[in-house]
Amino acid sequence: MKRISILGSTGSVGTQTLEVIATLPDRLQVVGLTGKDEVELIHQQIERYHPEVVAMAEAPAAGELRRRVGQKEVRVLSGEEGIVEVAKHHGADLVVMAIVGSASLTPTLEAIRSGKTIALASKEGVVMAGRLLMEEAKKSGVEILPVDSEPNAIFQCLRGEERRKVRRLLLTASGGPFYNFSESNLKSITPAQALRHPTWKMGRKVTIDSATLMNKGLEVIEAHNFFDIDISQIEVVIHPQAKVHSLVEFVDGSVMAILGITDMRVPIQHALTYPERTANKLPPLDLTENSPLEFKKPDLGKFPCLKYAYEAGKVGGTMPAVLNAANEVAVEAFLNGKIGFLDIAEVSRRVMAEHSIIRKPDLNDIKGADTWARERAKEGLRKC
Ligand SMILES: NC(=O)c1ccc[n+]([C@@H]2O[C@H](COP(=O)([O-])OP(=O)(O)OC[C@H]3O[C@@H](n4cnc5c(N)ncnc54)[C@H](OP(=O)(O)O)[C@@H]3O)[C@@H](O)[C@H]2O)c1
Repeated sequence: MKRISILGSTGSVGTQTLEVIATLPDRLQVVGLTGKDEVELIHQQIERYHPEVVAMAEAPAAGELRRRVGQKEVRVLSGEEGIVEVAKHHGADLVVMAIVGSASLTPTLEAIRSGKTIALASKEGVVMAGRLLMEEAKKSGVEILPVDSEPNAIFQCLRGEERRKVRRLLLTASGGPFYNFSESNLKSITPAQALRHPTWKMGRKVTIDSATLMNKGLEVIEAHNFFDIDISQIEVVIHPQAKVHSLVEFVDGSVMAILGITDMRVPIQHALTYPERTANKLPPLDLTENSPLEFKKPDLGKFPCLKYAYEAGKVGGTMPAVLNAANEVAVEAFLNGKIGFLDIAEVSRRVMAEHSIIRKPDLNDIKGADTWARERAKEGLRKC
């Protein structure tokens, strides 16, 4: 029996992780859950999955949850310290990291330091501090298993292969809902339009990131850090059908790919049950129904977020954390109707241009760069 804590259990990845666990009751058991302020949903999850410990990032939400659970055998913690305590909870073998944004960084680090296997969905922490996280994982002898469909596909393709025999990683991107829009049409996109993703059903932040292609940019940096492959060897291919989840080209010209239905429960289950493969009742991939599979070059002129992510990844140091923070501020401002769709990229560009980079940052440098970039981005919103 694998004992599992899910950080971000009330989100899109978190709820799908619980669905997978419910199908494998003889193998997988929930011991910890966390959310930010979704009290009603996490209360339902407690009733159904009986965890030992739960944390809410917002103190009032934790208070409300304590009142609801009453005398039940579950500890309810609050704040970032509470989330970190769930990350380190001695009863768990594996921690699923599905918190959105930079709030994922500290709990991921602490889960690694306490020796947990990590099933990693959250990309922002690896973008900000990938080198540090990978070093800590090595030091603690901890395995990090990617949950996101693209890095999960690459992880599977690289299994048993020598890293120095890789020529290129090819990350696929659906292209989001606006791939065929003209630049003038992109200007007037509303949050409601941007939240309607054609292929994947995800949380709000990652859905906007998919529409700007920043999501793919963050994945480029994530893959660079995670697989220790040079940025120049990582390419993005637009693949609207989202059935080829990513590919690895080796030095002899052989290319391996992972294909599958567009359903996050497949890579989630792979990570939860790894190194075993277990059967499930999800529908099989029907290639004839999805024919033809298309592949196109990304348009960096129309979607500059991807270009800025390549730049930040190449420069390294504190720059990826700065890009990530500026983007988080800009996406929130867009969702709140304060800036336009094209301003999201512009905010990131301006903040990156102002940053004095630290080349070999420690954790404090990274957190400092994150705070600095948030402040600069908030000031920059007024110029949009
Ligand atoms: N969704 C997907 O299909 C998908 C696929 C691949 C990778 N990812 C990555 O996985 C991560 C999560 O994505 P998602 O779509 O599942 O996001 P989501 O639906 O927005 O869920 C985010 C989770 O994080 C919690 N949270 C938000 N702010 C927090 C904070 N400050 N402190 C602690 N917890 C906080 C939320 O709690 P509340 O619900 O209480 O607000 C929720 O449980 C992202 O990094 C994303 O890029 C997602």
